[in-house]
Amino acid sequence: MKIVVTGGAGYIGTHTCIVLLEQGHEVVIVDNLCNSKPVAVERVRELSGKDVAFYEKDVCDGEAMREIFRKEKPDAVIHFAGLKAVGESVEQPLRYYENNLGSTLTLVRVMEEFGVKNIVFSSSATVYGDVENPPLREDAALPNHAACPYGTTKLMIEQILKDYAVAHEDFNAVLLRYFNPVGAHESGRIGEDPAGIPNNLAPYIMQTVVGKRDKLHVFGNDYPTPDGTCIRDYIHVVDLAEGHAAAVKLFEKDGCGLRIYNLGTGKGYSVMEVLKAFSEAAGQEIPYVIDGRRDGDLPESYADCSKAKEELGWVAKKSLQDMCVDSLRWQRQNPDGFGE
Ligand code: NAD
Ligand code: UD1
Repeated sequence: MKIVVTGGAGYIGTHTCIVLLEQGHEVVIVDNLCNSKPVAVERVRELSGKDVAFYEKDVCDGEAMREIFRKEKPDAVIHFAGLKAVGESVEQPLRYYENNLGSTLTLVRVMEEFGVKNIVFSSSATVYGDVENPPLREDAALPNHAACPYGTTKLMIEQILKDYAVAHEDFNAVLLRYFNPVGAHESGRIGEDPAGIPNNLAPYIMQTVVGKRDKLHVFGNDYPTPDGTCIRDYIHVVDLAEGHAAAVKLFEKDGCGLRIYNLGTGKGYSVMEVLKAFSEAAGQEIPYVIDGRRDGDLPESYADCSKAKEELGWVAKKSLQDMCVDSLRWQRQNPDGFGE
């Protein structure tokens, strides 16, 4: 299939492009580089040994998207493009709603105009909120809004795609709810390159390992969990990428309609367990301090992944140790990420 990958220069996008190219798909990346660098696209070409079309365009720009669809005639779209920083979304809600909702509305409108009926969308476990206890299943009741505007954009986009699918029987939309992506391609050539001080646990730990940060701040050790720190379902980014390739296979059969799948491992690890795993992989102690709780954090979140296994034939294969080893290889080979 020929697949337009919006946000394809980003962390999950680059890893997914590699898997799609390995499986014989053609990939067209559309990214405005607001949170990524052109060298990431070069590395995708280098690792895959394939030609990859790249358009530095904003998905909110309807005319630019029409031009791309006219030229490329894609069969499907994977929509990664979006802003994703939780704290920033609290400070700049309009920018998050404009970019995340605007890009999706434009994209679906252009898909309709060009008769493209297949989309995979990057949703998040954040849509579950705190309504139900883990393991979280796709049929869980969802809250009206998430803990932050970023999360609420995911809830709203899911609803837009659900409503659109009701109105268009031949529209196929696969909503993938990611748990906590960690790790990097095993070549060490691509990985996560957060701008500024990382918000997420694994990038913060990695930067502490290479000496860019003094110590990890553990946000709370008084949660009702065995060691008092929060539990999350960390998934290797390459497993996540393979989940997208499995979703795309649904489009090769007759219409799949609207589908929703969790992509996680089904197993939760605490902050202290993740820190220990990174210490072992790094072969060094990683300094840390216990701080207060972070607003909006839930004690425990992990997926029930049985639906993706049954319907997509997909399971996450890589261990927490693989995530740590691969992340550290990327971080050590590229201490400044993709550079300036
Ligand atoms: P990322 O920031 O590395 O990649 C997103 C890419 O989209 C970036 O390259 C950015 O430049 C691009 N982009 C943003 N807005 C755009 C626009 N209007 N037009 C064109 N390009 C645009 O993030 P990621 O971690 O790879 O995440 C990919 C998707 O997965 C996002 O939608 C994110 O919300 C979702 N997600 C990520 C996580 C995570 O922990 N990384 C968890 C759940 C869901
Ligand atoms: C966070 C976001 C979620 C988003 C996801 C991916 C919040 C409340 N949730 O998920 O919406 O989809 O990132 O971008 O921000 N931790 C520390 N020290 C740190 C960083 C994190 O102790 O420096 C702890 C956190 O308290 C949490 C765990 O590590 O318990 C994982 O944190 P993080 O990587 O930010 O992921 P989530 O909070 O699960």
